[in-house]
Amino acid sequence: MTRLKVGVLISGRGSNLQALIDAAADPAYPAEIVIVLSDRSGALGLERAARAGISHRYIEHSSRAAFAATADAALRQSGAELVALAGYMRILDDGFVAGWRDRLVNIHPSLLPAFPGLHPQRQALAAGVRFSGCTVHFVRAEVDTGPIIAQAVVPVHADDDEERLSARILAAEHRLYPMALRLFAEGRLQVRDARVVVSGATIPDGCLFNPPEVLASGDG
Ligand code: GRF
Repeated sequence: MTRLKVGVLISGRGSNLQALIDAAADPAYPAEIVIVLSDRSGALGLERAARAGISHRYIEHSSRAAFAATADAALRQSGAELVALAGYMRILDDGFVAGWRDRLVNIHPSLLPAFPGLHPQRQALAAGVRFSGCTVHFVRAEVDTGPIIAQAVVPVHADDDEERLSARILAAEHRLYPMALRLFAEGRLQVRDARVVVSGATIPDGCLFNPPEVLASGDG
């Protein structure tokens, strides 16, 4: 089996990168990480890449265009066929985004299009939503937009603070991102205009309530 070659861009902790590394440790997983690039020299994610024996490199962000040019060259040299943003905290150059169109994905800790941008978990708490989650999507020029590939939903608890909600969402991210990359690697994603069609996916109908339905029926 030839595995899809994935390049990952990070800025920090790299826990999503770690989830991808762990998934790819299974030889049956259809993707492998060939290079990790960071715009921060001290990013923990670079250490994770080193530990896994993956080629990794800090690229100074002297300007958006300069970073993009160096990153693009490194990615192409590595043979990357897909670029995954995993906590890459800067806006990417438009030319880079266009050059990797439909081969550039991001994970964001909210149910997009709700709460794009910074501190989405804080935004979710402030809005009082009962559910939040995470989204993997193809990247377009405008931040946190682009055709949605997959989402996972988590409940927001009444006593949540930003840290607790973030941890719950992050645990979902670590499952969702490897799954989304698997779908891409298996050729099961088709971008049609603003939407992604996933072949071979059926999800049961159902309904989640928060607060739980039992409260509304008077049993609570
Ligand atoms: C994640 O919440 C991701 O969704 C967001 O930035 C965070 C990165 O965390 N884009 P990590 O570096 O993967 O641990």
